[in-house]
Parts: sequence; structure tokens; C-alpha cells
Amino acid sequence: MTSTRTPITVAYGDGIGPEIMAATLQILEAAGAALDIETIEIGEAVYKRGISAGIEPSAWESLRRTKVFLKAPITTPEGGGFKSLNVTVRKTFGLFANIRPCQAYAPFVSTQHPTMDVVIIRENEEDLYGGIEHRQTEDVVQCLKLITRPGTERIVRYGFEYARRYGRHKVSCFTKDNIMKLTDGLFHEVFDEVASEYPDLESEHWIVDIGAAKLADTPENFDVVVLPNLYGDILSDVAAQIAGSVGLAGSANIGQEVAMFEAIHGSAPRRAGQDLANPSGLLLGAVQMMVHIGQGDVATKVHNAWLRTIEEGIHTYDIFTPGHSREKVGTSGFADAVVARLGEIPEILPAVSYPISSEPIRIELSPRHQSRKSQAGIDVFVEWDPNDVESLAKGLEECAGPDFRLLMITNRGQKVYPGGAPETFCVDHWRCRFEGNDSDIVTTSELVSLLGKLDRAGIPFIKTEGLFRFDGKPGYSLGQGQ
Ligand code: IPM
Ligand code: MG
Repeated sequence: MTSTRTPITVAYGDGIGPEIMAATLQILEAAGAALDIETIEIGEAVYKRGISAGIEPSAWESLRRTKVFLKAPITTPEGGGFKSLNVTVRKTFGLFANIRPCQAYAPFVSTQHPTMDVVIIRENEEDLYGGIEHRQTEDVVQCLKLITRPGTERIVRYGFEYARRYGRHKVSCFTKDNIMKLTDGLFHEVFDEVASEYPDLESEHWIVDIGAAKLADTPENFDVVVLPNLYGDILSDVAAQIAGSVGLAGSANIGQEVAMFEAIHGSAPRRAGQDLANPSGLLLGAVQMMVHIGQGDVATKVHNAWLRTIEEGIHTYDIFTPGHSREKVGTSGFADAVVARLGEIPEILPAVSYPISSEPIRIELSPRHQSRKSQAGIDVFVEWDPNDVESLAKGLEECAGPDFRLLMITNRGQKVYPGGAPETFCVDHWRCRFEGNDSDIVTTSELVSLLGKLDRAGIPFIKTEGLFRFDGKPGYSLGQGQ
């Protein structure tokens, strides 16, 4: 038997983590899961030892060895210096796809959306989660939003492949590309490109505000939803909550080699140590893990016993509602109830059936086109008196010639020179756009000389961004009001 056991790494986490992990492992074991468990310590205790990532080298070694991580929620200490361990693990191992099924279990768990069955597929590494933030001036901080073509293609393809594999019919995508024309625009563009390769699946794009409103109002009209990281973070909580409870949703973080399985909720320290917490989110994450490691029979058994427990009204406090619920149980009572039902299938809720073993979804990226890149100019960001665009413009105009011309100055993206509106509120952070005077070709020495002139003129620049054309097409946004 031992030789067929699958090694996995387990972390008990913080807050309610240890209790819900114990419950989850108890159920897996009773269901006959063939696991060889390595336990690692992560989270609060490790942070408190002064390790800012919350994870030690030996734990990384375990994860590299087993390539499968069942993780309970952890608490990231508040305040500067500590990094989110979730994000670190996801990015270190390239766990690019975050799969979050959000399903209603009506009438046993109250919901306004009894037929809801949505899978959120969230990009897991990029977007505003890069954590690249800077304070640039007295008044202004910024966060860099990075969207990449390969990162987007991976997640979008994963969404379509997932839909095909699990017999889903529609893939929706939400972005805000009416505002973020380049970043969200790329996500949308790649979505449309990939969608055209899956004519068997319906596809649609919504602007995220109205898309989110529709998802919250009529989730039964959605099936698989593919989202950039931050929208996916927000909308997976919304979707899980309106399906019944964030406490019921599990999540799989999938990479090419390594995968991590977890609940979508946090460590809920206020509920810790009282045998109260609902282990269902982590348990359903573990069900995804069992499918992933080729023990689909165990996944089926556990999931069906869990459904049976839920429909019998054996509920933890968080989903207990008089009328729907029959018996209020704690964490361990719930685990015992699921164990007692192993081998049963639900009578009213649809039973699940996973293939015993299934190949992981593998993603091949399409061949890349190499664009011709040229530099047309530069945006120089400077710190300057919020109330004195005139003196700034004068100084910049003097620095521009003969290689450049000053095209515009914007403040928080709004054009204020030439020809700004007197009402526009300004801060001490100015974007000054210089375009090369001789066609497209701006040289590095011209750029350096421009910056040298600004320096000598006493105009402090805080950063620059190149204005590049790709196959002649501008790779930068225009100023609002330009
Ligand atoms: C999640 C969580 C994490 C995230 C936090 C804990 C870093 O909210 O898994 O959704 O933002 O991704
Ligand atoms: Mg979240």
C-alpha cells in the first residue's frame, strides 16, 4: 500500500486553520485517501520568528518534493514588512490558475439563487498583485498593474479547456477595458483570440461593473467566468457568498508542476479554538486535490458524503438556519457526520462523479509574433508645486529643444497644458510628455541629455516611461482631454 500513497504537504495554518485541517484530514483518511503527509509550519508563528515571507527554507523543500500543497488559512500580520504567503507561494511556483467553484445547495443552504453553479477562474499571479508600489511625491503613491500576454493567454486557455473538460457551455470574461485600454484591453483581446478557437463554447465579455452586477443579480446566467487577478479575488468572494456562503467554497491553485488547494476564506481568528468553524471550504478544496492527484474515487466519495450531510441539515453555525437546518454541530461533529455518510450519495442534491484519474489540463501557448519596436518619445514624471503649472511648463519648454517637443502635461492623467481647465484639481505629481522631433527615432543619448537639462533646470523627475511603438502602433495611452 505504502508505495501507492501520494506524498502531499500539509500546513495547518492559523486561527481556525488547525481545526478545519484536522476535520478535513479525518474525513480524507476515513474515505481511504492514500496520502503520505509531510507537515510544514507556515504563517503567524514563522512571521513572528522574523521571517517576513512566513515560510522557511525546509518548507519550500517539502513543497518542491511533493508538488501538492493542502493549506489551511493563515493570518498575515498587519503592518508593513510582511508579505502575503498565499501570494508568495502562488507566484514562486507559477500557480497561474485559481479555480473557485461557487455552487448553491438549495434549499438546504439559504440563497437567493437556488440554481447557481458558477466556476470562477481567476488569474493568479499578475495584475495589481505584483505588489510593486511606490510613494513618488509628498502626496502621491502608485501601484503598478502588470498584465502580460503569456500570463493572460494561459489563464484564458485554461478557462476554455476547463469548460470543455467539465461539460460547461459558456465562458464569460470581465474587464474594464473602456478605461484601462492597454492592460485590460490586452486581457480582452487575448480572450477574443482564444475564444475563436473554441467555437463549441459560447463566449462573452462584459465590462466588469455591469458584469459584476449581473453576476450578483442573475448568477444562473453565468457558467465559467475568467477574470484578471483582482476582479477575480473580489468576485469569487461575491459569487461564493451569494451561492450560500464563502465558508463553503474551496479553491485550487494550479501550475504546470505544483498545485495548492485551500479554502477561499481567511483564518477567522475570532472563531478559533471553539470547535465552531465550518471545514467545508477546505474540504471541497481537498476534493479538488484528490481529483488532481488521481484519486477521483476518493474525491467522489467525500464530496457525495458531504452533500448528503448538507442535505440532511447537519450544519455548522455559519449556515445554520431554522427551517432548513436540522442539527447544529461544531467542526468535529460535522466531520464525524460526513465520515458516517461515506459511501452514501445525496438523495435530493445532484450526486457528483469524478473520473478516477484524469490528465491535468496542459496549456500550450500560441506562437509569438515579434513586433518591430521603436521609441517615439518619453513621459517624464516630475514633482512640482500643485498650483503652478505655468512655471513648470515654461521650464519644460526650455528643456525640450531641439530634440524634443513638449506635447502635454497631465495631472492624474488629465491634460492641464496646453489649454487646461482652471477647475481641474491638481496634486504635486505631473506627467510631462515629450515627443521626438525627428520622426520615430529617439536615441538613448537624446533621452539622457533631456533628463540632464531637466536636472540643471531644477525640475526633479521621479520616473520616466518610454513611449514605444510596436509595428507602428502606439503602446501608450493618450491623456484624458487630449
Ligand atoms: C484569496 C485571499 C488572498 C488573495 C489573500 C489572503 C492574499 O483573499 O485567496 O482570495 O487576495 O488572493
Ligand atoms: Mg480573496
